[in-house]
Amino acid sequence: MPRKILVTNALPYANGPLHLGHMVGYVQADVWVRFQRMRGHSVHYVCADDAHGTPIMLAAEKAGMSPERFIAGIRAEHERDFADFGVAFDHYHSTHSDENRVLAELIYKRLDAGGAIARRTIQQLYDPVKQMFLPDRYIKGECPKCGAADQYGDNCENCGAAYAPTDLKNPRSVVSGATPVMQDSEHYFFEVAKFQDLLQDWLAGDVAHPAVKAKLREWFDAGLRDWDISRDAPYFGFAIPDAPGKFFYVWLDAPIGYMASFKALCESGRKAGLAGADFDAYWSASQVARPAPHETELHHFIGKDIVNFHGLFWPAMLHGSQHRTPTKLHVNGYLTINGAKMSKSRGTFIRARTYLNHLDPEYLRYYLAAKLGAGVDDLDLNLDDFGSRINSDLVGKYVNIASRCAGFIEKRFGGRLAAELHDRELFDDFAAEAGNIARLYDEGEYAAAMREIMLMADDANAEIQKLAPWTMAKDPQQTERLHRVCTTFINLFRQLTVYLKPVLPRIAVQAEHFLGVAPLNWSDLAAPLLDHDIRPYQPLATRVEKTAVEAMLKEEATPGVGAPATPDPQAKPAATGAEDAQDPRLPPSASPTISIDDFARLDLRVARIAAAEAVEGADKLLRLQLDVGELGTRQVFAGIKSAYAPEKLVGRLTVMVANLAPRKMKFGLSEGMVLAASNDAGGPFLLSPDDGAQPGMKVK
Ligand code: 2FM
Ligand code: ZN
Repeated sequence: MPRKILVTNALPYANGPLHLGHMVGYVQADVWVRFQRMRGHSVHYVCADDAHGTPIMLAAEKAGMSPERFIAGIRAEHERDFADFGVAFDHYHSTHSDENRVLAELIYKRLDAGGAIARRTIQQLYDPVKQMFLPDRYIKGECPKCGAADQYGDNCENCGAAYAPTDLKNPRSVVSGATPVMQDSEHYFFEVAKFQDLLQDWLAGDVAHPAVKAKLREWFDAGLRDWDISRDAPYFGFAIPDAPGKFFYVWLDAPIGYMASFKALCESGRKAGLAGADFDAYWSASQVARPAPHETELHHFIGKDIVNFHGLFWPAMLHGSQHRTPTKLHVNGYLTINGAKMSKSRGTFIRARTYLNHLDPEYLRYYLAAKLGAGVDDLDLNLDDFGSRINSDLVGKYVNIASRCAGFIEKRFGGRLAAELHDRELFDDFAAEAGNIARLYDEGEYAAAMREIMLMADDANAEIQKLAPWTMAKDPQQTERLHRVCTTFINLFRQLTVYLKPVLPRIAVQAEHFLGVAPLNWSDLAAPLLDHDIRPYQPLATRVEKTAVEAMLKEEATPGVGAPATPDPQAKPAATGAEDAQDPRLPPSASPTISIDDFARLDLRVARIAAAEAVEGADKLLRLQLDVGELGTRQVFAGIKSAYAPEKLVGRLTVMVANLAPRKMKFGLSEGMVLAASNDAGGPFLLSPDDGAQPGMKVK
């Protein structure tokens, strides 16, 4: 019976770029989702940006932007990074959304009606200049124990002492430098202890790895204290109903963001007329409690630092508001690089985008999978080991099987596989691993699964070595045998592709193309592919070069370096060389020079493509709505339809000429121009600024 599963990943904060540490949990969940789907289960996979809170409010202020605009820019960056790593959410949302506000209010009101919200006045440090209450991390001073200067409000980095911010000597506000004062304020508390029995029952189930459950029990046994869910204005978040000047603490509405994202997914399916997902079937306590086949599952993939929120407050909030509790928490540890915490000063802080600029995302997916277990152990990305592992496993073992045998099928047998295998037993041995490997994937034991798969690849390679098809090929007597032998190895390669597909989605698609087969599923393991045309083999994975790893580290180490105004990745490098110089299409100097003042008259701006659509009656044009930050929204018609599907452009940053006189066209007013590269050989390639640029920024 197919399972009905909703999977979420922890919501990244909308205050900065993703780094490789983030990718552990996302790759872990994405692999699990892809695996479950290959088994025929129904899976919805959602995520969102976690957009509220003081740090984001202050970061936006520093960037000179409204928080709304600030988080929109980060969200687009996050979505691109995920997509490029093959992390394929069904929907990506924001906690700063209508769906989330409605749900947060609903849950709060139900908890309040159920008598689980208490109000009382507390004292807190207040910045009299900035006129805001200060979270602990925004207060610095001298350690009350050892006297070390410049310590944060919660603990001392010098002697390790933990204390309250009020204990600091000579405290000051990090925001304004002012001396904070104590001030009263009424706060709202969620009385989580009222859900003691529920949590006890929930914890008794198979809801997390034993190590995680043990930690949760420790907290549980220490006693559940009321949880402060309110913050005072100014705060970027949702206003608490009927509580002027009070806002929900970011961690109250963050997990509700899982529901909001799923709600938006259900709505978009409904609008598109699809029999999509049913919100209540996954969230309402009464619906979920119905017996199979109605039973649905809820799986949260999170890091070990946020287990308390997901294992104590969240199930209680859900239960107290008549929602279901989570089926399981999948908790991952931290990523270290070369054995140490990622660090900017050591040059081992690697952003997701920087990795993508130099290395294949599938390689990181494989490397992480090869190290991930179901437990919460930290895992290390050792950059030397990374290269050798990819080169030995993926290039040397897995794709090698296809590359060594495909040529014979193509050249000697017209690209057609034989009607029979040479070694059916080996094929059946590989098929017999299906249950074991499925269990390992399902349990999150990816490292063990990768080991098993590579052992099979070793067997296949040893067999190729033994049978030596290249020798057989020289003997006309052995033609038929050669055909069956190579057909066997192509079939083993196909089975390994099935096993690796959750981890290597891009390579799998290319392998499917090579094999001339529909998307592979678990059920394809049992029967061989015979009497079937395959396509010429194209390299599926190439070696990791040390220089690529070094270039990646160098890009991180050099601030501001790394392909400025990156053209589209499809763009070819600029043509150079003697022949080109004589090509009449490429004059050595394109135009007469202009003065710097001429150039300064151009108002070039970063713009975000907020919407894009084809223009009826125009072959080449797309109608773009551009968000140009402070300049507002501009409509521009661009002749780029031949190269871009409109839906692919939405969210992308580009560069526009903002002070071009508006032009009336048949289809409407064009209020500027976007920049793209082209010549007779190709294009257009839309220009994009580097990550981090925001709509409205001047390009100069
Ligand atoms: O720790 C974090 O990065 C949080 N933004 C995770 C939120 S997960 C969920 F609860 F929203
Ligand atoms: Zn100290």
